[in-house]
Amino acid sequence: QTPVIAIDGPTASGKGTVATLVAAQLGFHLLDSGALYRLAALASLRYEIAPDAADDLAALVGDLHITFREGCAQLDGVDVSNEIRAEEIGNRASAIAVHQAVRAALVARQRAFRKEPGLVADGRDMGTVIFPDAPLKVFLTASVEARAARRYKQLIQKGFSANMDDLLRDLRERDARDSNRAVAPLKPAADAKLLDTSALTIDQAVDQVVQWYQA
Ligand code: CDP
Repeated sequence: QTPVIAIDGPTASGKGTVATLVAAQLGFHLLDSGALYRLAALASLRYEIAPDAADDLAALVGDLHITFREGCAQLDGVDVSNEIRAEEIGNRASAIAVHQAVRAALVARQRAFRKEPGLVADGRDMGTVIFPDAPLKVFLTASVEARAARRYKQLIQKGFSANMDDLLRDLRERDARDSNRAVAPLKPAADAKLLDTSALTIDQAVDQVVQWYQA
């Protein structure tokens, strides 16, 4: 079986950065599953499908025309990599991700990323639902404050405006929604290794994951 490193965790825990660097170091493919939910959220805005219209959303997701190339995400042939990083899109992604039909429509697309020599997959349910046989599962955490500070920096860097109080509130709201939903709630797989990155540099977190993988 092609190896998979599953990296799950709450919003702004550093998953994306750590997953990207681990994949680069090992020469593995990368799946940013959150980007799929964000692309679905953007598409639902464009096609004016309400976040509670589960069946219409699932149909939309099944037909999504998306490609990932060299770190760029395209929707209908147009690069939307920056657009999908907006906080508003993240919140809408979380709202549509509660529907079982939407999640089911994304399973095959996600599993198709598993190719030689290996895959690093980041998200909420990589270790619990999408790749339950992954040889390494990591659950990244960090304090709400550390995560809000990281997200703030990231949004400003991408040219978005950001407000710390709003971010803290959004983060708590999204944590609650992602953890309490009925389908694929955010939680560590039984065999996941926990990594609290509050006091770690990115390099330290990356080294730990690579070390676990090679052990
Ligand atoms: O970067 P951030 O952690 O804020 O979000 P993301 O990983 O891009 O995911 C956006 C939203 O999609 C999350 O809040 C989840 O509700 C949802 N999601 C999910 O349900 N399952 C995944 N495997 C990935 C994301």
